[in-house]
Amino acid sequence: MKTNRGNTTLPWKSAWITGAGRGIGAELSRLLCRHGVTVYGSARSTEQLAQLQQELASSAGTFIPVPIDIGDLDSLQQQFNLWDQQGLMPELVVLNAGTHDAFSASDFSAQRCKALLDINLQGTINCLDPVLYRYLHGVDQNQDSIAEPLTARQGPSASRGHIAVVASVAGYRGLPTAAAYGAGKAALINLCEALRFDLQGSGVKLQLINPGFVRTPLTEQNDFPMPALMEADEAARRILKGLLSQRFEIVFPRRFVYLLKLFRLLPYSCYFSLVKRITGG
Ligand SMILES: NC(=O)c1ccc[n+]([C@@H]2O[C@H](COP(=O)([O-])OP(=O)(O)OC[C@H]3O[C@@H](n4cnc5c(N)ncnc54)[C@H](OP(=O)(O)O)[C@@H]3O)[C@@H](O)[C@H]2O)c1
Repeated sequence: MKTNRGNTTLPWKSAWITGAGRGIGAELSRLLCRHGVTVYGSARSTEQLAQLQQELASSAGTFIPVPIDIGDLDSLQQQFNLWDQQGLMPELVVLNAGTHDAFSASDFSAQRCKALLDINLQGTINCLDPVLYRYLHGVDQNQDSIAEPLTARQGPSASRGHIAVVASVAGYRGLPTAAAYGAGKAALINLCEALRFDLQGSGVKLQLINPGFVRTPLTEQNDFPMPALMEADEAARRILKGLLSQRFEIVFPRRFVYLLKLFRLLPYSCYFSLVKRITGG
């Protein structure tokens, strides 16, 4: 089986990061590349991926643009077929691509909800499908393949592959103007919790990443105060630290997220009035 020879001290020689063109995904790509990992970076924007490739040309690892729309299952299958033919399968997969579209009840539309859920929820599921299949079975569903299940380089807890899904603390409870965004992220959290049970003992390590506010092009459009806003490079460092741990859920900034976790315990009357007061709604 052909693998990419990176000079890395990290547990993975290669990683696939979706949403790598900017924001959190770009920072994580930079960090992993600096550590010698071969990073396959996906996004729709080929220019942003090409820029990152140029920027990382002299880093210890390699950044390889893999332009793809995660909403397009056929393109994803094609990409995986290509990796199968090359005997490649990234050892770490970070499903980070996502977007936001804030709207209130007065602008509620099935189309806007669908557009958001097609990327944040279905797009992530589209990526999980071929990854899980290959990590667990080692071959493509539809055709003969030379790929085999990954074998130990990462210790017993991730001997067949490592998957991390980026959801959000917005998935913990409903928040103003985030009905569609929150619903998609809540679904991702539930999906990962369920898969965590199913994957136990399989050798596939699954982690859930729930960030608080991180300064990225996505949050630049927010016109409300963002408590405990974290820089994207710091978020990437927290993600890497979390990926190296055995924790199921990776959260940051910790104090802010733990407060939101406490909010989950509040009865609705307290929760609604508290969030209304905080957001000035
Ligand atoms: N920033 C925060 O405060 C925050 C907090 C909690 C959770 N998150 C989550 O963290 C993830 C990254 O957020 P971010 O703030 O870094 O966002 P960002 O700066 O907008 O970057 C999003 C990345 O995802 C890619 N993407 C979007 N739709 C895609 C599609 N259909 N197919 C492939 N790639 C796609 C974008 O590239 P193209 O548009 O070129 O495709 C871009 O590279 C998202 O899942 C977001 O929900 C962010």
